[in-house]
Amino acid sequence: MKPARLIMTLFTAVTLSVPLASTASAAPETGGHHDTLRWAAPRGFHIGSAVAGGGHHETQPYPDPFTSDRPYRQVLGAEFSSVSPENQMKWEYIHPERDRYNFGMADAIVRFAKQNRQVVRGHTLLWHSQNPEWLEKGEFTKDELRAILREHIRTVVGRYAGRIQQWDVANEIFTDSGALRTTDNVWIRELGPGIIADAFRWAHQADPRAKLFFNDYNVESVNAKSDAYYALIKDLRAAGVPVHGFSVQGHLSLDYGFPGDLESNLKRFAGLGLQTAITEVDVRMTLQAGGVPTEAQLRQQADYYQRMLTACLNVSTCCSFTIWGFVDKYSWVPVFFQGQGAATVMWNDFTHKPAYDALRSTLAGRR
Ligand code: XIL
Repeated sequence: MKPARLIMTLFTAVTLSVPLASTASAAPETGGHHDTLRWAAPRGFHIGSAVAGGGHHETQPYPDPFTSDRPYRQVLGAEFSSVSPENQMKWEYIHPERDRYNFGMADAIVRFAKQNRQVVRGHTLLWHSQNPEWLEKGEFTKDELRAILREHIRTVVGRYAGRIQQWDVANEIFTDSGALRTTDNVWIRELGPGIIADAFRWAHQADPRAKLFFNDYNVESVNAKSDAYYALIKDLRAAGVPVHGFSVQGHLSLDYGFPGDLESNLKRFAGLGLQTAITEVDVRMTLQAGGVPTEAQLRQQADYYQRMLTACLNVSTCCSFTIWGFVDKYSWVPVFFQGQGAATVMWNDFTHKPAYDALRSTLAGRR
């Protein structure tokens, strides 16, 4: 190889292997991007995004966004002070076989977060969905199953101890009517509701610094489901179980009204001595033919984003607000909700929708 070629090759290798150096310097503390969400946010308030990868992304015609899309990574590092693995810490990714863990993507996300001075929300440890087949279909005794969960929690939470701010320990354990998921949640079905307290205890032992959360959808309002969480968490805390937080996902749709009692709902959980958070915000809409949102839809979407953020900012224990992806091309919405989309705050070229501006100005108004 000619020297010039060799130098170019080395140069390319170096720049590709340290793609984070430039985004790290975009952090607000070092100056530079004074027009980002994280810079606009008040001190101590974390504005986050899911990190695209795994799950529905694997069926889409693009490579893994987090590892392959450099402009995406740049925006992820520059705009946000918190990240949540969208799929990469779920059982089916991180524990694909009984005796094998796959920490590659989760490690990379935690490393990225450190380089970009971001906190991490771990997601998730006890859930009915996205479990590996070996677990769902395996024939285990109760003792074996319990040992499997304990070992998983110790291993995963222990590996990232000190580097995860909040863990969604239990995800979506109630149905909309407020009944425990005793049929589709393998843990609750096989081991009974007591396993929930055990999961929190094991997670706390593995990382005493992480704040441990219950997380769910359709709990923005005071309703049967959020009432069920309120009663359960009250009991668990009275029994000394280390539950520290309650979070609402915030997957909203313009087809339904805004949950106007979100703030008072968060406040009643704060009243139990809990941290609160909004963890998976997006606002989907039914798209007209052609798939382009109307001006009115974009305005209403911005309003929903702004009101969710305001509700959180108005509750002193709500210090973490995470959007479930920031760019439409990687959103889970069109894949899971037929005819709906445009749910995030950026167009596919990362230019800002009205919802982005609404978030930033709302944050800036609280600095
Ligand atoms: C979604 C992911 O966004 C998709 O990529 C995946 O295919 C399915 O799961 N509630 C949750 C999240 O707690 O983990 C879900 O994420 C969305 C609903």
